[in-house]
Amino acid sequence: MRVMIVGGGGREHALAWKLSTSPDTSDIVFVPGNGGMAGMGECIKADIGDPEAVAALAREREIDLTVVGPEAPLVAGLVDVFTAKGLRVFGPSHEAALVEGSKSFAKRLMEDYGVPTAVASVFNSYEPAKAHIEQRSAPMVVKADGLAAGKGVVVAKDTEAALAALDDCMVKGVFGDAGSTVLVEDFIEGPEVSILSLSDGSAVAHMVPSQDHKRALDGDEGPNTGGMGAYSPVPLLDPDTESYIHDAVMKRTVQALSDEGITYRGVLYGGLMLTAEGPMVLEFNVRFGDPETQAVLPRMKSDLVSALQATIDGTVADLTMEWSSDYCVCVVVASGGYPGEYQTGIPISGLKAASSDSNVRIFHAGTAVEDGKVVTSGGRVLNVVGLGSDFAQARGVAYEAVERISFEGMHYRTDIGHRAMT
Ligand code: GLY
Repeated sequence: MRVMIVGGGGREHALAWKLSTSPDTSDIVFVPGNGGMAGMGECIKADIGDPEAVAALAREREIDLTVVGPEAPLVAGLVDVFTAKGLRVFGPSHEAALVEGSKSFAKRLMEDYGVPTAVASVFNSYEPAKAHIEQRSAPMVVKADGLAAGKGVVVAKDTEAALAALDDCMVKGVFGDAGSTVLVEDFIEGPEVSILSLSDGSAVAHMVPSQDHKRALDGDEGPNTGGMGAYSPVPLLDPDTESYIHDAVMKRTVQALSDEGITYRGVLYGGLMLTAEGPMVLEFNVRFGDPETQAVLPRMKSDLVSALQATIDGTVADLTMEWSSDYCVCVVVASGGYPGEYQTGIPISGLKAASSDSNVRIFHAGTAVEDGKVVTSGGRVLNVVGLGSDFAQARGVAYEAVERISFEGMHYRTDIGHRAMT
């Protein structure tokens, strides 16, 4: 089977690695891929936001299964275009992808169907939103409705910060159309957990939980990032709470969509906060988490191709996924300056030495190959993953590998998984 992977980050490299271990996979083609995927198959430069162009590539390269990594092509309707052309693809349709593409749609759905989430008010114009912010107490959370490349959510400690976030959305137009509707949400507190569930629109099968670390610096300090590391399992998530999330959040949301005439086919990512009042949904994503996927897939013993096929074929009710009892820790190695400005094109050394341990996997995120050498090409550069029979071992394996890698300006957090250890 010829597989095409859309996207070029660490999540897509992890998907490629796992899919390549399937007896059903013969070749993998990447659009656009990165320096790590370049050694695994053809990497093709194309605009992944243009569903027609990607479908034309799938047809030309005789692809049997396309797997979409990032959310933007899904919200743009890539799956609808593929389906209309009879091309096999893993991921939700445009309509189903709105649980990530429109936070007001997701909030309304959760409210109507009793999925636990923070209370929010939705505004389509500036003055009522401003008046609401001024009369309520801080802290509060201001969210742009649409996709904003992970930058549209502000936890405002005071009214001034909330008004500034509203200005960015509705006056300055920093997020374009994505900010023309805004949610003002109650601030909630607690540790976060990520759940990835496969659904065919009716049955739902859950992957093992994981937790990511969004802040740039040790101790969960510093600016927010796309994720500086992740680990799985999550010891603070007890089995009862996990099964409550499976039923009251993941299954209920798929059922709610179905009741509204929308079939959710793909992976549904629930980003939850474990509050004193119980788990609450922070957000849904319509694709695999990044870097959570890099900490989850190395624990998957069963075949990923079969699991993805089951979501397309409507056989998730018969799907069983098996997981190793290993612990997995993924450390993100980033460019100097990230999540602010950073340089690219910097040579990376030590990759071979770092991957010599069979308990290490290195997934490339922002790398390219130039003149035969692997160089940096993004903010998050590498995902270094360690496996072990307990957290201490998995962390030790991951950090030993990280220390063998070097490039000018590289930085990483030294405390990934610290919450699991304490
Ligand atoms: N780790 C957060 C995300 O994938 O959106």
